[in-house]
Amino acid sequence: MNTQPSILITGASSGIGRALTLHYANAGYQVWAGGRSMDKLQQLCNTHQNITPLLCDLTDFDAVKASASQLPALDILLLNAGTCEYIDDAKQFDGALFHRVISANLIAIGYCLEAWLPLVKQGGKLALTSSSASFLPLPRAEAYGASKAAVSYLARTLSIDLKKDDIHVSVIHPGFVKTPLTDKNDFSMPFLTSPEKAADIIFKGIDNHKNEIHFPKVFTWLLKAFALLPFPLWKLFAVRMTK
Ligand SMILES: NC(=O)c1ccc[n+]([C@@H]2O[C@H](COP(=O)([O-])OP(=O)(O)OC[C@H]3O[C@@H](n4cnc5c(N)ncnc54)[C@H](OP(=O)(O)O)[C@@H]3O)[C@@H](O)[C@H]2O)c1
Repeated sequence: MNTQPSILITGASSGIGRALTLHYANAGYQVWAGGRSMDKLQQLCNTHQNITPLLCDLTDFDAVKASASQLPALDILLLNAGTCEYIDDAKQFDGALFHRVISANLIAIGYCLEAWLPLVKQGGKLALTSSSASFLPLPRAEAYGASKAAVSYLARTLSIDLKKDDIHVSVIHPGFVKTPLTDKNDFSMPFLTSPEKAADIIFKGIDNHKNEIHFPKVFTWLLKAFALLPFPLWKLFAVRMTK
């Protein structure tokens, strides 16, 4: 009988998800590593026998649903995959961009939950990766910020409703982490964290049944403090940022 704990991680082919995959594999977990890039997933699998690729576009409900038949019971379901695109000119609102981001960051999570949540064992854990961008309305983040604010709400609602099923839910609010996603950013990113450090913090947070995992603390507490400001005051700051 296989006694290794099991985890499914989405977005495993890159950035934070890749670092998490290696972290859990090194900790002895049987890891199902989700992504769309088979070559990157295969590279990961070549490093550890206990990593299995799960090739799937999470915005394709039929594909997500079909994948469930190849999966075992899970100790942890970690929905980390996501994308970031900014609205450059709100007046010329890009509805297709908005759809892409909301689909990948939010709707896909609904697909994953329908397909995979039944596999999570009693006493198991679910973790959703949101963003500290969800704390405050930030310039150009109409799509990304809205998707992540919804993910945070979703996670907290699930945390209430899955209590009776003995599934613990953690919501993850990272600050800036150096990954291909942030390499595209054209602004300075304070307190940039490495993906390995992020993975270590997330691993410990999930292990310790944290409701919220946020880091780096100096940055996320600062954002949380700003979020307490009356909106007109925050708006003054935020409008200045756009100049
Ligand atoms: N980096 C940061 O500073 C930061 C801060 C806050 C929150 N986050 C969140 O952390 C998560 C990971 O971000 P990251 O920085 O590690 O980004 P990343 O390096 O760009 O990795 C994104 C991952 O998501 C996967 N993915 C995206 N769309 C997908 C889809 N439709 N179907 C399946 N997989 C999909 C990608 O798979 P393929 O490459 O195989 O397509 C990739 O593995 C995201 O949810 C992001 O919003 C990141």
